[in-house]
Amino acid sequence: MGGTRIERQQSGSNSGRDSRSNGEAGKLFVPEKSTLYDPRKERVLYWENAPEGIHRYPAGETTDSQGNTYDYSAGQRLWIDDEKEVMDSCQKPWVIETVDRAFTALDDKGPSKQNVEVLERGFGLGQVASEIMDKLRPRGGTYTVIELNKKNANYAQTTWTNKQNVIDKARVTSARGVRYDKDNPNVYINIIQGDAIEKTKELALAGSKFDIIISDTFPLLEEEKSINDLLDLAILVECLKPNGVFAFFGYHFGFQGGMNERQRNLVEAYFEDVSRTVVKGINPPPDYKYFNPENGPTVRELPVIICTKPRIQAAA
Ligand SMILES: C[S@@+](CC[C@H](N)C(=O)[O-])C[C@H]1O[C@@H](n2cnc3c(N)ncnc32)[C@H](O)[C@@H]1O
Repeated sequence: MGGTRIERQQSGSNSGRDSRSNGEAGKLFVPEKSTLYDPRKERVLYWENAPEGIHRYPAGETTDSQGNTYDYSAGQRLWIDDEKEVMDSCQKPWVIETVDRAFTALDDKGPSKQNVEVLERGFGLGQVASEIMDKLRPRGGTYTVIELNKKNANYAQTTWTNKQNVIDKARVTSARGVRYDKDNPNVYINIIQGDAIEKTKELALAGSKFDIIISDTFPLLEEEKSINDLLDLAILVECLKPNGVFAFFGYHFGFQGGMNERQRNLVEAYFEDVSRTVVKGINPPPDYKYFNPENGPTVRELPVIICTKPRIQAAA
């Protein structure tokens, strides 16, 4: 989700970039158009090591751009360095609906599938992650997440995973009357730190296959906005089982219920079935600018997009 702001330093004819050192040769000038210069790689490196934190806010009442007054809950907002609006807990209705629809699509009106393998891209506040864990506990399975930011990935690996183990332990002892077995949990958690595109490629090469993939990363460059989760669909579909389900965060500025053309072209190229619904009841706090744009309506609903029948497997 979100937008991106990239600061560029102007320096004469240097196409907007400072020169970079290449060690022995001293300062090496690398123009942006050079094959050596890769703005995405640079941004990935930057985002990976950036500080992050949570802004907490109290509940309140506000009025949207259409004049409707509504209450919003106390919440949390994830910031990563200069991006103050990476994820906000007001998106919870989207989280619940997306995870629910992804599991429903997987079962496809049949019996509830057991031992489900799920991949998420972008841990964020861990909202989707916690929702997935709730779905996985009774079924068993694996939860894998690829998170670029090292501090966030570390939080997922320690605090969040420990919390999930405590929930698991309580559930196992109360529901089954058996002891919690930390070496043989009902749901295995696998936190991978790194870039979603790079790590998905590695998973594909290793032959990993998932039942569900939910992608909710962040546009690292301006041109990635609205399609940041779809840039590597050709590889991503290789990581899906033939009956696998893919969902992503499809909101984009100017959203009116559907996908934009770039999104539609990409998902329709790689999936036979694409369903779209809209989840209402998004109640953003007034200072969440992403959902309170200056030149657009307050965002009170979000798209839930579920893609099934990956084309690569269908053709194989
Ligand atoms: C919108 S948040 C995800 C919200 C999350 N689904 C939740 O439920 O809270 C985006 C997350 O993706 C991570 N991210 C951004 N770009 C990434 C990339 N290229 N690869 C992996 N993670 C990335 C960010 O660090 C951030 O944690």
